[in-house]
Amino acid sequence: MEYEQVVRERRSIRGFQKKPVPKELVREVLEIAMRAPTSLNTQPWNFYVVAGDVLNKIRKGNVERNVAGVPDSREFRMGPGYEGAHRERQIEIAKQLFAVMGIERHDKEARMDWVLRGFRQFDAPVSIVVTYDKSIQGSDIAPFDCGGVVNCIVNTAWSKGLGCVINSQGIMQSPVVREHAKIPDDQVIQTCIAMGWPDDEFPANSVVSNRKSVDEAATFLGFED
Ligand SMILES: Cc1cc2nc3c(=O)[nH]c(=O)nc-3n(C[C@H](O)[C@H](O)[C@H](O)COP(=O)(O)O)c2cc1C
Repeated sequence: MEYEQVVRERRSIRGFQKKPVPKELVREVLEIAMRAPTSLNTQPWNFYVVAGDVLNKIRKGNVERNVAGVPDSREFRMGPGYEGAHRERQIEIAKQLFAVMGIERHDKEARMDWVLRGFRQFDAPVSIVVTYDKSIQGSDIAPFDCGGVVNCIVNTAWSKGLGCVINSQGIMQSPVVREHAKIPDDQVIQTCIAMGWPDDEFPANSVVSNRKSVDEAATFLGFED
């Protein structure tokens, strides 16, 4: 696939075929994606790639703790809640997803079911938990660098026919992830990526999210034309 086609056609995948992903293929995706640039070439990321029983235990723990109301223990700052244009975009994508999934606004049960899917990492066969060394925690550069490699992972995966969703819900209960993925205390958990073969029949997989225009995002200065 051409690079532009990959970037234009990739979308978040939230429904997967019940078909395993070979470890070697995930390894190849990581090897390519790790060509991502990083600050001073520090490559601060580490990956805990989980599948099978290990991932099932994480799903179970995530769901149980969230249903029991255990507070979120994400290992990064969330900042203030989204407002204005950010909030509008957040609502827009939720509306798009709920519309194709047939989830009504006031259907609390269906909405909760959707949230629980997220905690289950959308039942993906693989999850890649992305961490970085605690020794550099506090600098905003390490999470920035992790974002760079995560973007490369989802696009590389797409080029191989794999679908992904970057999934903050999957690491909201970080002690569960840490325990079952055997993540040592010297690592900060940044995010996880649910990965697998896309289920083309799953309605949410057809959703194409909108983007603001280049004119809204970019300010060009000093050009002659
Ligand atoms: C840091 C980050 C965290 C995300 N967490 C979630 C999540 O918890 N649940 C989810 O369904 N999607 C999650 N997403 C996916 C975004 O909703 C998605 O990328 C965005 O709506 C744009 O859609 P697209 O990926 O299909 O282009 C996350 C994406 C990023 C970059």
